[in-house]
Amino acid sequence: MPRLSLRRVVTGVTFLIVVSLGVSLLSGDDSQGAQVYAAKRSHPRARAMDMMRDREQGHAIQKRKAPKQPEPPAVDRKLNAVVPKRADEEKQKSGDQIPNIVHFFWLTDQDFGFHHLLSVLSAHKMLGAEQIMFHAAAKPKGRWWKEAEAIPTLRLVPWGSDVPEKVSRQMEVRARLEALMQHGGMYLGTDTIALRPFDELRRLDCVMGRTGDGLSDQVLLASQDASFLKTWYKTLLQGKFKEAIEVAAKQPDLLHVEDTRLTRPRWTDWWDLSNLYREGETVDFSDSYAIQLAYDQYNLGHTPDSILTLDSTFGRIARTVYHGAQELKKSEKKVAEPNTNAVVPNIVHYLWFGERDFQLHNLISMMSARQQLKAPIRFHTDEEPGGRYWAEAKLIDELTVVERAAPNATLGETAEDAILQILREDGGIYLDADVIVIKPFENLMKYDVTMGRSPRGLSFITIIAKKKAYFVQKLQKMKRTRSDDYEELALDAAVDRPDLVHVEENTLSRPRLSDWKDPSLLFVENNSGWSDNFAIKLFYDLYAQDHNQYDIVNLRTTFGQIARSVYYGSPRLITDGSQPRLYPREDYVVPNVVHYVWFTCHDFRFHHLLSVLSAHRYIKPDHIYIHSDCAPSGHNWDVAKEKIGEILKVVPAEQPEEIFGNPIHNIPHRSDITRMDVLLKQGGIYLDWDVFALKSFDPLRRYDYVMGNEIAGLNNGVILSKPNAEFLRIWYDNYHHFDDGKWNFHSVMEPWRLASEHPNLIHMELTGLSRPDWTDWWDMKRMWNEDVLEDWSEAYAIHFIYSYHNEEHNPEDIKRMRGTFGELARWVYYGQKEAIED
Ligand SMILES: *[C@@H]1O[C@H](CO)[C@@H](O)[C@H](O)[C@H]1NC(C)=O
Ligand SMILES: *[C@@H]1O[C@H](CO)[C@@H](O)[C@H](O)[C@H]1NC(C)=O
Repeated sequence: MPRLSLRRVVTGVTFLIVVSLGVSLLSGDDSQGAQVYAAKRSHPRARAMDMMRDREQGHAIQKRKAPKQPEPPAVDRKLNAVVPKRADEEKQKSGDQIPNIVHFFWLTDQDFGFHHLLSVLSAHKMLGAEQIMFHAAAKPKGRWWKEAEAIPTLRLVPWGSDVPEKVSRQMEVRARLEALMQHGGMYLGTDTIALRPFDELRRLDCVMGRTGDGLSDQVLLASQDASFLKTWYKTLLQGKFKEAIEVAAKQPDLLHVEDTRLTRPRWTDWWDLSNLYREGETVDFSDSYAIQLAYDQYNLGHTPDSILTLDSTFGRIARTVYHGAQELKKSEKKVAEPNTNAVVPNIVHYLWFGERDFQLHNLISMMSARQQLKAPIRFHTDEEPGGRYWAEAKLIDELTVVERAAPNATLGETAEDAILQILREDGGIYLDADVIVIKPFENLMKYDVTMGRSPRGLSFITIIAKKKAYFVQKLQKMKRTRSDDYEELALDAAVDRPDLVHVEENTLSRPRLSDWKDPSLLFVENNSGWSDNFAIKLFYDLYAQDHNQYDIVNLRTTFGQIARSVYYGSPRLITDGSQPRLYPREDYVVPNVVHYVWFTCHDFRFHHLLSVLSAHRYIKPDHIYIHSDCAPSGHNWDVAKEKIGEILKVVPAEQPEEIFGNPIHNIPHRSDITRMDVLLKQGGIYLDWDVFALKSFDPLRRYDYVMGNEIAGLNNGVILSKPNAEFLRIWYDNYHHFDDGKWNFHSVMEPWRLASEHPNLIHMELTGLSRPDWTDWWDMKRMWNEDVLEDWSEAYAIHFIYSYHNEEHNPEDIKRMRGTFGELARWVYYGQKEAIED
C-alpha cells in the first residue's frame, strides 16, 4: 500500500530544506579569494573598498555617528525575532534615505527565465526604481532577456573582467556589499518580486528579511554608509566570512529585520509555499513588500500568455507585474469543473499484496466504505489475507476478491502503478486499507479525478477517478520519463493541468503528517473535529497496535470512537472504562525522590550536571539517588556535589544481566530494568540524563503512575511511580517475553499497548514530559536552532536526546548561547532565561 511512512515524511521535509538551502548555504571554498582580490585592486570593486575605508576614517575624524555599543538582542517570543532595540523612528527622523536604485546580480551561466524577467520588471514597475543596475559576469541569454533590456532604467554592469569559473558564496556576498557601499540601494535576488514601493523601509539604514534559519539572501536594503555593511564587510577583509545572521546577532541595532513582509512565502512551511501556485487559492500578501517565488522548485515554464488564465496567487501577481492588471481571463479559466452527470463509477478498490493478517482496523475500513459509499468492493490481491477479521470481512455481501499479481519490484513496479492501472481500467474509488470513510463522496464523484494533499504533493491514500481519466494517463506517462516520487509527480501534473484534477485541500488528507501532533491525536485523546472529513487515514501501523473488538469498547480515543461507530454502530463507550485515579491536592502518592541510573565508568559531562541541577532546583526532591556501578567523577561532578550537597547520593548497583532468564546485553536495556526495579521498590521520579526538569512535578505526583506520550509509544526517559504501582508490575511481568534484539519494543511500545488495555492505571502526559519528540525531525531540530525559541512554559521537563547536538558546553558559554537550549540551560544553571552580560 502507498502508506506514507514517517521516514518518507521526514525525507520530504528534508528535501524541501535542502532545495531551499541550496541557495543560501552551499558556500564555496574561498581560500583563494584574497589573492584573487589582491590581483584586482585596480578594479572598481577595489576602489569601492578603498572608498569605504576613507569613509570610515572620515567618521572617526568628524565624530559623526560614533559607533554605538551594541545592545543585547531583545527577544520577541512570538516571532523569535532579534529585534533592533534602537527605535526605528529615531532612524527615520535622521532623514537618511536609501536611494531608489535596485541591484541585481547575475554571476552564473544560466538562462534568463520568465520569472527573472518578472523580478526585474517588478523593480521597474512596482518600485519605480530610478536605476536598475544589473551586475552580470556575462550577458544573460534567452528570449526574456531581450524584454528586460528594453526597460529604460536598466543598465547592464559588467562584473569583473576575469570571472572565476566558480563564484563562491563569499564572492557573491562581497560583490553585493561592494555595490551597496558604492551606490547604496536595494539588492534583490532574481527570485524576488516586489509588490509595492519600499518607501518606509528606505527611511531606515539597513534592512534584511527573515527566513527559516536566518536572514534571507534575497533582499538587502542599505544606505551607502550603513554600519551593518561595513561590519559585515570587515569580516571579509579579515578573511573570516560570516553570514548576515551571525553579524546581526552580535550587533542587532545595526540592522532592521523584517520578519515576514519581505520573505514570504515561508519556505519552511510547505503549505505557504505551494499555496502560491495553487489554483483557486488566494493568499493574502497585501501586507508584504515583496515575495519569494521559489520558482525553481516548481519550474512551471510560464509565459505571458499562460499567466493570463492562471487562477492562482502567482498568476495574479505575475499578471499585475507583466500585464499591469491582475484580472483573470474568464473564458479560459483552467480549473477542474464538476460534471452535472456523475462520472465516477461507484466501485471501491482495495489492494492487498503479500502474506499478512487482516486486522480489525482493515475490517473497519471496509465496513465504513460499505456503510457510507454503498458500493461494491473489489479486493485486488495476490494472496487472500488470513485472520479472524478476514473471515468476518468475507461476510460482507458487496465484497469480491479479484486475483492480481503483486507489483514486481525487480521490474521497478510499485503499488502506485497498480492503483493507477486499476483506476484507468475500471474507474472508481481507491482506498488504502486503513482509510476510514466518514461520509459519502457524492460531491467528489462529479469530478474526473479527485485527490487530497500530502506533505510532498498529492496523496495516494484515497483517489477517486473516472475510467480512462486523462489525468491518470498523464501520470502514467510522466512516470515513464521521470523517477520522482509519485506524489511529487502528481503535484507537478496538477499544477501543469489544474483543469484535470480536483484537489481536496483538507478533507481527504487528514491527519496532516506535516503536523507532528495531528496523527497521534487519533490515538491519544478524545478529539472531535474529524467529522468534516470525507475520509481519514489511520496510519495505524505507525500509531497503534493490534486492537480487537473487545478492547475498543472502552477505548477513550478518537480511534476508539470511530471504531465503535463503525463496528458497533455507536461511538459511545460500551463499558465504563475508567480514568486513572487522581488523588486530592497535597495527597502525593509518588515519593519526592529522584532516581538516575549511571552504568559504566565515563565522564560526567556538563549536560549531566545540568540535568541533576534541574532536578534539584525545580523538583526540589528529598533525595537524588544515582544508582551506579562506577560513580561519576571529574570537575562537573564536584560541582554537582558542591551545589547539591547531602541530597545527592550514589547508590551502588549492579548491571542486571538477565530478566526472567532472558539475557540482556545492551546497557540501555539494563538501565531500563534497573529503573523499573528501583521504582517498584521505592517509587519516585526516574529521569534520563538528557532530561531537564523545568518546574515542580507535584501535580503529577497525585497519580499512581505517569509516563509521557511520544508518537506511538510511551517515553521511558521520565517515569513517575508510587512504590509497587500496578501498571509497573504488569509492564515488568511483560519482560517474560523480553528480546534484547528489539531496541525500543519493550521499553516504549509495550507500555503504550498496555496503557490502552489498562487506561485506569496510568496517566499519560501528552506533551509535558517527552518533547521534543525524537521521532519528529522538525521538533528535534528546532531545539538546537539558535534563532528559534520554543515555548516550553507548559512543559514539566524536556528530553532533548543530547547525542543529536553533543557539543560540550560550560557555565560561561551558556550565558549568551542563543536558541532554546541556551535559554533552558540558563534556566537550570542560573535560574533565569535571559542572556547574561558580565
Ligand atoms: C520479476 O521480473 C523478473 C524479470 O522479468 C522475473 O525474472 C521475476 O521472476 C519476476 N518476479 C516475480 C515475483 O514475478
Ligand atoms: C470523550 O468522549 C466521551 C464519549 O463521547 C465523552 O462523554 C467525554 O466527555 C469526552 N471527553 C473529553 C475529555 O472530551
